[in-house]
Amino acid sequence: MMYDWLKWIRQQGASDLLQQYHIDLDEKGFFWHYEGHIQRLNWMHQYHDLIEDGAFKKYALIRAIKGRTGADRYILDCCAGLGKDAMLMAVSGCQVLTCERSPILFALLKDHLDRYQLNHMMHCVYADAITLMENWPISRLKPDVIYLDPMFNIVPRAKVKQHSWLLQSIGMRTDNEQLFNRALSLAGDKVVVKRSRRNDHLVSMKPTYTIEGKTTRYDVYQR
Ligand SMILES: C[S@@+](CC[C@H](N)C(=O)[O-])C[C@H]1O[C@@H](n2cnc3c(N)ncnc32)[C@H](O)[C@@H]1O
Repeated sequence: MMYDWLKWIRQQGASDLLQQYHIDLDEKGFFWHYEGHIQRLNWMHQYHDLIEDGAFKKYALIRAIKGRTGADRYILDCCAGLGKDAMLMAVSGCQVLTCERSPILFALLKDHLDRYQLNHMMHCVYADAITLMENWPISRLKPDVIYLDPMFNIVPRAKVKQHSWLLQSIGMRTDNEQLFNRALSLAGDKVVVKRSRRNDHLVSMKPTYTIEGKTTRYDVYQR
């Protein structure tokens, strides 16, 4: 039996956003309207291919997370969004705990993981990452790597892809300085920050090094 994530969203008092962004649920999962078409989360199953041929290794994100050793890491992804990056890190062999504070995005991600029976790939919590890190129990294993992908600057609608549009519209802003400082004090090894190639660094501190992707870059802050 599928968990009723639509009901859960209503219980969180977030139904108005469903109406505002025309998000609804049918037997195939959540959908929304974008540029006159119905859009759905549809990418989780593609990750099976990445596991089979090992193609995940060439991704800049994986190189930034794993470093030269290529060792599997325990990762806290503070900005789950629709879980695409978290899934890639999980596929690469890392243990991933991810958190999201937008009830709608959290429910969309959880529903999608339920449908594809992928809950075992990552642990997903509905929480504010700053609060989660502030209250990290002393007895709990610390993450080796903390991954931050807070919202970039707003891009004109015509230039963003369907999923990015939803993230940009519904994703919640955060105090970047506080998020970064908390992450740096908790991470066992490093903090990795995703930025658009055009963006400044997230905070005034310069990264130890940077790994460039096609349109994004990963600023690595070694502890
Ligand atoms: C750019 S999106 C992340 C996209 C994600 N990396 C992916 O692959 O789909 C940023 C997300 O972080 C979430 N977020 C921002 N600040 C947060 C915080 N303090 N705690 C939890 N989630 C946060 C936003 O609601 C948004 O969904």
